[in-house]
Amino acid sequence: MDDVTDTVFRQIITDLAAPDLFFTEFVNVDGLQSPGREKLIKKLQFTPKEKPIFAQLWGLKPENFYKTTKEVIDMGFDGVDINMGCPVKTVIKNGACAALINNRELAGEIIDAVREACLPAGRRRERFPISIKTRVGFSTTDMSWLEFLLSKKLDLLSIHGRTAKQLSKIPADWELIGNARQMRDSLVPCLPSGRPATLIVGNGDVMSRQQAEKIAKKYKLDGVMIGRGIFQDPFVFAQKSPWGDWSKEQKTELFKKHIELFSKTWKRGEYKFETLKKFAKVYINGFDGASELRTKLMSTTSTDEALQLL
Ligand SMILES: Cc1cc2nc3c(=O)[nH]c(=O)nc-3n(C[C@H](O)[C@H](O)[C@H](O)COP(=O)(O)O)c2cc1C
Repeated sequence: MDDVTDTVFRQIITDLAAPDLFFTEFVNVDGLQSPGREKLIKKLQFTPKEKPIFAQLWGLKPENFYKTTKEVIDMGFDGVDINMGCPVKTVIKNGACAALINNRELAGEIIDAVREACLPAGRRRERFPISIKTRVGFSTTDMSWLEFLLSKKLDLLSIHGRTAKQLSKIPADWELIGNARQMRDSLVPCLPSGRPATLIVGNGDVMSRQQAEKIAKKYKLDGVMIGRGIFQDPFVFAQKSPWGDWSKEQKTELFKKHIELFSKTWKRGEYKFETLKKFAKVYINGFDGASELRTKLMSTTSTDEALQLL
C-alpha cells in the first residue's frame, strides 16, 4: 500500500507475524527511468528479512517496464508485479493501472516487455516470476479481461473483487474471484508438478488470517492478499492474533520501535514525517486514553517530538 508498506513497516510486521509474500508499494517505472528517479527509488528498498518480496511496478512505457524489471531482478527481488488495478483518478487519467483494463493492446505490450526482461539470463536458469494485480473490470464486471490475462502465462494473478469504478465503496465480490479461479482451471494447464501454472490470489475486505483461510478454501484459491486489515491488527498474518490482549505499554513501545527504525532508515528525509502519523491509528488504539494520545500525536512535527510524547 502506497505510503504505508515501506521497508520499515514491513520489518515491523515481519517481527510480529510475516505474510508468505510481500509486495512493495507501487513504483512508477516512467519516473524511475527519468531524472525523478531519486524520489522513487526508496520504494524499492528492502532487507533480506522481508523476503519473499515482489516489486510492484506501474506506468505506461513498455521500455521503462523492461529496464526497471531488469533492475528489480538485479536488486534481489523474488518477482515482479504489474499494477493494473489502481483506480486513483490521477493515475487512470493518463491511461495507467486500472485504465489498462480498457487498453488491452498496451497491457499486452507491457506484459511482453516485462516477460522479455524476465527470461533466464546470466546465472539465472529459470524465468523470473511475473504477477499482475488487477480488478474484475473497469466500469462493469469484465471476465474477458481476466481471460485475457490468463492467456498471458503469468505466475500469479491477484484479483481485487471490485471494478475500478466501485473503488472500495461496496463489498468485494468473492464469487467473481471464484469464477476467475474456475476459468483458470479450464484455460491454464498445470505444471508437470501438478500445481496450477498461474496461481490465483483473491483480495478485498479480508481482516484476519482465519477469514483468509476460510475464503481460500471456499473458492479454492491459491492465496489471499490482505491490505487494510493491517491497520486493524498488525498481527493480521498470525494464526492467532494476540493483539487484543496487548497492553498500552506494549503498543506504545511498538510504535516507538517503528518511529526509531523510520528515523534510522530514512535519514535523508526520503519519507516525510507526516507519513508516520497514519500509523498512530494502527498502534494507538484499544486502551484508555488512546484517542487523546492520537490527537496529541497529530500535532507533533518531528520523530523526536513523537517519541518524547510516547
Ligand atoms: C492507503 C492505500 C494504498 C494502497 N496502495 C496500493 C498500491 O500501491 N498497490 C496496490 O496494488 N494496491 C494498493 N492499494 C489497494 C490494496 O492493495 C487493496 O487492493 C485494497 O485496499 C483492497 O484490499 P483490502 O480490503 O485487503 O485492503 C492501496 C490501498 C490503500 C488503502
